[in-house]
Amino acid sequence: MVFDTNMARQDTPGCLDVVHLHHSGSALMPTPVIDAFRRHIELETVRGGYEAEEEAREKLNGVYTSIARMINCSAKEIALTESATASWNAVFYGIAQTFRPGDRILTSRSEYVSNMIAYFQVAERTGAQVEVVPDDATGQLDVRALEAMINNRVKLISVTHVPTHNGLVNPVNEIGQVANDYSIPYIVDACQSAGQMPLDVVQIGCDALSATGRKFLRAPRGTGFLYVREQMLEKFPPITLDLHSATWTGPHTYELQPGARRYEMFESNIAARIGLGTAVDYAMSWGLAEIYSRIRFLADRLRVQLSSIDGVTLRDKGEEKCGIVTFTLDGIAAEEFQRLMRKKNINVGVSKRNCALTDLDEWGVESLIRSPVHYYNSDDEIDFFVNEVKNLAASLN
Ligand SMILES: Cc1ncc(COP(=O)(O)O)c(C=O)c1O
Repeated sequence: MVFDTNMARQDTPGCLDVVHLHHSGSALMPTPVIDAFRRHIELETVRGGYEAEEEAREKLNGVYTSIARMINCSAKEIALTESATASWNAVFYGIAQTFRPGDRILTSRSEYVSNMIAYFQVAERTGAQVEVVPDDATGQLDVRALEAMINNRVKLISVTHVPTHNGLVNPVNEIGQVANDYSIPYIVDACQSAGQMPLDVVQIGCDALSATGRKFLRAPRGTGFLYVREQMLEKFPPITLDLHSATWTGPHTYELQPGARRYEMFESNIAARIGLGTAVDYAMSWGLAEIYSRIRFLADRLRVQLSSIDGVTLRDKGEEKCGIVTFTLDGIAAEEFQRLMRKKNINVGVSKRNCALTDLDEWGVESLIRSPVHYYNSDDEIDFFVNEVKNLAASLN
């Protein structure tokens, strides 16, 4: 099928102003999302916040159903949050309550920085150990090495599907196979993969999966979701509660919400959540497989063209490479590169050492340029960006 890029761009007002290659930061919202978001804010202004929420109840319930359809689970296994980190923390710290000295957490080499910090904190508090599974020769997590590390002290396998700073796609289905074979709880950070590629929690075999709205899903900022497998809800209760996640039932008693909503808090940005639901429906109307195929086409085109420029080193690893294109350019820091591109109305991202310490230290660089593509980028935008990189590279020589 030929992807209708013109239609995608017509739906994206931001395309008129910028060449946006910053999707692992935050994407440009499409018109249906902006409209849904705005409509609810307008409703709040004339009705009042709580009253508007009541009127939007059905729409809000639909957000859970849409996400459940997108990742193949039931709506009661979904919690809405304000970020991927809020989602991930809610489940990780719940699981961590069970850790004892000597318990082992196995994680990926390309793990997201906040997750790493949380492992270290929990290790400090509980005496558990954090162990990084090595990568294979292609740069993705080595599933055989993971299996060789398993013993009865492994209490969690927790990996990042697509890292913040690389085109790498970790083999989450195969990792899930190992986790399930040994009945070890398994969390997947899908922050950079949600909206970029198809996700199926049954195929992955995970107990929990966290994601954000603003990146490849193109939802408003301040949105996220969490999937928790129904059977895990009782095993790993949330570490903090409020009047929404639990009900005060007697002088000294409370009951947890029955589904994954026990991981939520009462207050939230309803307009943004409605925007998230619209973004999920919008992504599904394009088709996640179709989106991913268009993204990979553009990312391949960009990598091939960048690789021909003197001074560019591509940094993407793994057997499968997704839309996050990363590189360094000799003679210029990523931050300065970003600043110069901004002057040309090109948005790119930067990954600094403290966000991707393991890889950046290995490569001996302080920061990386991230130029992740999305399906609504045009072929011309890719060529325009490459031309700017070429000109800049030539001026540095
Ligand atoms: C892999 C990964 N996980 C988690 C996060 C955190 O997402 P959020 O800022 O929505 O909490 C990011 C953000 O860049 C990420 O790249």
